[in-house]
Amino acid sequence: MNQTGGIGHDQWKTRFGFMLAAMGSAVGLGNIWRFSYVAGENGGATFLLIYLFFTLLIGIPLLLTEFSIGKAGKMDAVGSFKKLAPNTKWHLTGLMGVVGGILILSFYTVVSGWSLFYLYRYLTGAYWTEPDGGFGAAFDSWIASPIAPLFWQGLFLVATILIVMQGIKKGIERANNVFMPALAVLMILLAVYGLTLEGAKDGLAFLFTPDWSQLTNPSIYFMAMGQAFFSLSIGICGMLTYSSYLKEKDRLPAATVGIGIMDTVFAVIAGVMIFTAVFSFDVDPSSGPPLVFITLPSIFASMPAGNVVGIVFFILLTMAAFSSAISLLELPVAYFHRTLGFTRKAATLIIGSIVFVLGVAASLGFGIWGGVQLGGNNIMDMMDNLTANIILPLGGLLMVLFVGYYLTKEQAIKNSELETPFLQSAWYLLIRYIIPVIMVVILVGSLFGII
Ligand code: PFF
Repeated sequence: MNQTGGIGHDQWKTRFGFMLAAMGSAVGLGNIWRFSYVAGENGGATFLLIYLFFTLLIGIPLLLTEFSIGKAGKMDAVGSFKKLAPNTKWHLTGLMGVVGGILILSFYTVVSGWSLFYLYRYLTGAYWTEPDGGFGAAFDSWIASPIAPLFWQGLFLVATILIVMQGIKKGIERANNVFMPALAVLMILLAVYGLTLEGAKDGLAFLFTPDWSQLTNPSIYFMAMGQAFFSLSIGICGMLTYSSYLKEKDRLPAATVGIGIMDTVFAVIAGVMIFTAVFSFDVDPSSGPPLVFITLPSIFASMPAGNVVGIVFFILLTMAAFSSAISLLELPVAYFHRTLGFTRKAATLIIGSIVFVLGVAASLGFGIWGGVQLGGNNIMDMMDNLTANIILPLGGLLMVLFVGYYLTKEQAIKNSELETPFLQSAWYLLIRYIIPVIMVVILVGSLFGII
């Protein structure tokens, strides 16, 4: 039943469709929810600067590396490595990605479920004004309840499953063709609205005026690298899987740069949207993960037309999460379908069920399973730390080593599709020496608690 030929040959209709889907994968909860609280906790502009630097120096070259493996291998995360490096252990990189994808999706659907529920509360008017006891208490008791969050998380997952089941052209490409333009319009609208608020200037200063003394703070580098990886979806072979559906004639380099830039632009616009509001209403920007679910709603409740802003914001957050969740599900599904030979439908249902069960554990970790902790981390924190801080960077490191050292220089450069000799040399130098060294320093440093 191995379908590597026929069924495995689903492809993107256009290169632009691929770009939108890859941008859809990149732009997600990471840009809005994660970026804003990590930047808020790590000094704003200084963090942004280092994050931008890492995106350019490591993120985009690594994205090209990952795309080049998928396009040359023309298979899923595991199959592509098996094809390019038969009889070696390199395919374990892909397997680690598959496991990482399942883990990320498990907690991603929990937060997406919260977002969907908030959208519902805004549509019905329930959160237009501060609930009794405040938004903080409302959020805390909602995430701690045993059943309700599971319903919204399940609903979100079912929608994701239905899209992925339809395949690349009919499901994933079509959905992103609608979501991405809509997302861009809504986000720009909200950012422009944010700029009209009274405290906009302070918000912009927080985001764009670096505090140079912070550059000596090592933990900012670690957080910025993790954020760059998470935000660009690199290191777990999700992007590799997407690029395997490209047609031969569709070139990689310009698409890669376009995707990297768009993801970064989205993060900056999201920052403008959120911090102009945060500073206009005098709230602490470093309020952590609840920023989006507690701080913003209380701001919306007191700002002009806040109810409309709330509706638009949670539509935006849910849509952004959705297009990323689709790519996270496609990664293991492609492996089950193409390498293990399951039908796409069976693969989607099996993985979807595993994700749901793990997600239930992550959700209950905020309530009745709150006692399950490791070093002060609940179940979701453990999944987040294991993936963002270990699996993604390790996967990325293995990929640059694979292309830089296992493949020959000729193969690597041919697969990258870079044309000018200068860019070829610069990229090869980066993936062979500079990126591995920086990554090992940061990874080892964090492992030993230096960073
Ligand atoms: N890039 C997504 C975000 O910023 O929310 C998260 C993500 C999606 C990570 C897909 C990894 C991935 F393969």
